[in-house]
Amino acid sequence: MATYLSGIQPSGLPHLGNYFGAIRQHIELPKGGGEHFYFIADYHALTTSRDAAKLRESVREVAVTYMALGLDTERATFFRQSDVPEVCELAWLLSTVTGMGLLERAVSYRDKIERGIAATVGLFTYPALMSADILAYDSNLVPVGVDQKQHVEIARDMAQSFNATYGETFVLPEVQVSPTPKVPGIDGQKMSKSYGNSIWIFETGKPLKKLVGQILTDSRAPEEPKDPAGVLLVDFLRLFVAPTELADWEERIRKGGEGAPGYGHLKMRVIECIEETFQSARARRAELLADPAEVDRVLQRGAERARARARATRDRALRNCGLR
Ligand code: ADP
Ligand code: TRP
Repeated sequence: MATYLSGIQPSGLPHLGNYFGAIRQHIELPKGGGEHFYFIADYHALTTSRDAAKLRESVREVAVTYMALGLDTERATFFRQSDVPEVCELAWLLSTVTGMGLLERAVSYRDKIERGIAATVGLFTYPALMSADILAYDSNLVPVGVDQKQHVEIARDMAQSFNATYGETFVLPEVQVSPTPKVPGIDGQKMSKSYGNSIWIFETGKPLKKLVGQILTDSRAPEEPKDPAGVLLVDFLRLFVAPTELADWEERIRKGGEGAPGYGHLKMRVIECIEETFQSARARRAELLADPAEVDRVLQRGAERARARARATRDRALRNCGLR
């Protein structure tokens, strides 16, 4: 029985990239059996957050999003990272067997600095904390978007170093890259909160129309035959519609001529898809926001289960390296 674990940072409103790249897998995977841990990476969020009230709100938003979208919190242990402080102890132990070079090679650190995020020690050692998250629950598989792949490889390297030094302590994890590794934003770049090109999962009505209206197009007429691979709106449709419907749109765009869909048609269909796909979750989200005690109860129970597991791993690691 495999153990799955993944985390998501609470940094603003979860967008379609987060959903298709990460959250959807976390909700679907527990239906297939195995053991599952999903958490809100609030310690990690401190590497970029500087506003306590906003962070608190983002944590609530991520919790409510997972619950509204239907995460089965009986089958999956759902919790807040900071409710399991043992991961900080593990991060320290791991950092003592990790060469500087391993973290210096982490691309996300360099990317973040280039985007103007302050180069703190926490940002640099971020992969050590993430490794601790992964190793604390004896995880076998880590379902994440492709941008997190290197971090999982780092966790594997750290586990190997520790095991080689002190004997079998940690299970070696493997990455499971999402089937939708890269969702584009409305400008065609990767969708990301930091690029200002994202669509919030629960966006609806006029603001949704406005955002979808801004998805990048060109001035070619509907009649002009086009390669659908070059039409950004088709990439959005692909996320939602059945393969037969997608093939039909693509065929009509390729053929052009009278009756070929214009960008306006495609936009209308994208809006419809987003509204429909998240309709019931949108309603459930509103209910959960009005019932914070229910959300707290779920997170509390998740924290207890997660903590028991992380403690056992922490104790094993302390014993093996001579601190007990
Ligand atoms: P952001 O870039 O908006 O800050 P995060 O880095 O917090 O997003 O990503 C959270 C999770 O969502 C990660 O597992 C990441 O791989 C996934 N993810 C984020 N953006 C996308 C995207 N555009 N396409 C696919 N997956 C994504
Ligand atoms: N670094 C991940 C992100 O930015 C979040 C994360 C923290 C995580 N710890 C993790 C993901 C452990 C998977 C496993 O999205």
